[in-house]
Amino acid sequence: MHTEVIVVAAGSGSRMGSDIKKQYLPLAGAPILIRTLQALAACSAVDRMVLVVSEDDREYVHTLCREHDIAKIGAIVAGGRERQDSVRQGLAALDGQTELVAVHDAARPLVTAEEVEQVLAAARAGGAATLGVPLKDTIKRVEGTRVQETLPRSELFAVHTPQAFHRSILEAAHQRSFLAGGSSTDDASLVEAAGVSVQMVEGRYTNLKITTPDDLVIAEALWKAKGEHVR
Ligand code: CTP
Ligand code: MG
Repeated sequence: MHTEVIVVAAGSGSRMGSDIKKQYLPLAGAPILIRTLQALAACSAVDRMVLVVSEDDREYVHTLCREHDIAKIGAIVAGGRERQDSVRQGLAALDGQTELVAVHDAARPLVTAEEVEQVLAAARAGGAATLGVPLKDTIKRVEGTRVQETLPRSELFAVHTPQAFHRSILEAAHQRSFLAGGSSTDDASLVEAAGVSVQMVEGRYTNLKITTPDDLVIAEALWKAKGEHVR
């Protein structure tokens, strides 16, 4: 199946609180976005990548990709206000022959080719799949400061990207959500809402999303430890 990855990088990185948007901050000497693209391009199952960035950054990202010699870039398109809008812009730029689509956060540069292959294989076989990891912490639901309930940890996963889908399933789920005026930061949940079952593929704890400044410190350490079988 011809396979594309939509890389969403059009966020403002507000929780990072830095002058430079987080996707352009360096990780081991290269912008986070570039590290992410290198990881995805190294995956043999990926045929083409669609990059979704802010309109103002398109030229800059084009130059960055050329400087770093990133392969498999099919298009660089402008994103939208919410993550879901950015994914929709990415869907509109897919190649005609594409049948399998993964969506990946630019802010997850530590994803491995093995994880990408695994989630693509699961989606190829079953229609929809997401990477995730079992929770380490116990989760409580809280209102104000009052604990309402303790959730059963053994049933809970933290959801990562990439998430992968048959193209028709993802397009239909996005169309449905768009018409209903909904918004979600998780593509799998749109697919679930459309009644399609999603397979959970257990990935690595190292596939963290760089969100706040402490995540960058951890990511640098994990990068240095790469190859030492950190899980
Ligand atoms: N994203 C996007 N378009 C948006 C919002 C987010 O493409 N309108 C992308 C981000 O660039 C990021 C991924 O979606 O790679 C995950 O989002 P998140 O980690 O929340 O990044 P930001 O939205 O940029 O950060 P924040 O929520 O702190 O502002
Ligand atoms: Mg966000």
